[in-house]
Amino acid sequence: MRQVNVGVIGTGWCGGIRAVAAASHPLVRELHIAEVNPERLMEMTELTVPASATDDWEKLLAIAEIDILMISATPETTHYPMTKAALEAGKHVLLEKPIALSLDEADDLIEAAESRDLKFTIAYSQRFNPKQAMVKRSVRAGELGDPVNVLVSRHIQRSLGAKIGNRIKLSPGAMEATHDIDFAFWCLEPRRPVRVYSQSAWGVRKDSVGLEDVQTTMITMDDGVVVTVGAGMSLPPGYPNAATTWIEFIGTDGAIFIDDTHRDIVVNTVDKGVQFPLSTMPGELVDHTFAGPMERETTHFIEAVAYDRPVMVEPRLARLTMETYLAADLSAEINAPVELPLTPEMAQRAHAASVRG
Ligand SMILES: NC(=O)c1ccc[n+]([C@@H]2O[C@H](COP(=O)([O-])OP(=O)(O)OC[C@H]3O[C@@H](n4cnc5c(N)ncnc54)[C@H](O)[C@@H]3O)[C@@H](O)[C@H]2O)c1
Repeated sequence: MRQVNVGVIGTGWCGGIRAVAAASHPLVRELHIAEVNPERLMEMTELTVPASATDDWEKLLAIAEIDILMISATPETTHYPMTKAALEAGKHVLLEKPIALSLDEADDLIEAAESRDLKFTIAYSQRFNPKQAMVKRSVRAGELGDPVNVLVSRHIQRSLGAKIGNRIKLSPGAMEATHDIDFAFWCLEPRRPVRVYSQSAWGVRKDSVGLEDVQTTMITMDDGVVVTVGAGMSLPPGYPNAATTWIEFIGTDGAIFIDDTHRDIVVNTVDKGVQFPLSTMPGELVDHTFAGPMERETTHFIEAVAYDRPVMVEPRLARLTMETYLAADLSAEINAPVELPLTPEMAQRAHAASVRG
């Protein structure tokens, strides 16, 4: 068995899951972690007993034995410089979405990985949600006939929306619908998007973080299939605790409806009242097991490097997803459809509409 050494940069929520998953995987010889929050660094050191723990992520670049770096730091402005440095240091990289903040940065990272023959993937963890994987399998097997229409509606709780909005000013499309655009494009490969129309609506987040509450995006594919993705970030506390999703995938010979609304577990205690656990997108650790897709995504990438297998998310598709949500942000700003692929001039306008600080 070929073991690998793994480093995780930023061991917060997602990086914490990745470090725990890597620490117990038989293909991992050594785990190294970098985290700037001293309490979290101590907590994760106790939990995962890594070979090294540091508050300086660049120290991991200098450890020649590290094969893989998982980059889970925030804010999202860290993604490009950390990934570029990791690839230049010869590490295989799993990077949390978004791939970058501009298409030029994304292109630069893809080139850096391809020119060095390194594995590089973007963590669209919902591909490891078995319900979504089943849609992909059905489409690939032709069970649904020709795809006609895809609809995904996802809402997250406002505390999570505030956590994201307080660290970076990116739209619900860029930070949330991105998962569902990736899902639709993955299922619909090799179709390409040709047109995007998007509208945003303001609500409680306007005063708190200066961002829209909801964004609805309609994407037309090159054969006429229509994808509609709704992303909301301001559900009140209570149900569904973290995230709720509804999916419809319609074909000429069949349809799939997915209820991922997390109404299947209700805990009611005198102390805390009604709670809906196990409703986060990455998935919670429950003693010896995880309730969501991020653990399996982490171990899949470790296996891809150890056994030289393909990664789940090709960075070029993540780049297409990014181009699409940038176009959606521009569409919402100008109140008109935007054609894809973006011309260099439209890409600049879309970037300005999307990255607001
Ligand atoms: N796939 C999913 O389901 C999913 C879910 C949530 C978040 N995400 C993505 O994952 C990324 C991480 O999100 P999160 O919620 O885990 O964030 P988080 O804020 O909980 O964790 C980020 C961690 O990075 C640390 N950090 C910041 N700068 C650092 C540096 N220079 N060196 C080392 N550590 C540093 C922070 O202290 C923090 O602990 C985001 O970019 C987000 O878009 C993906």
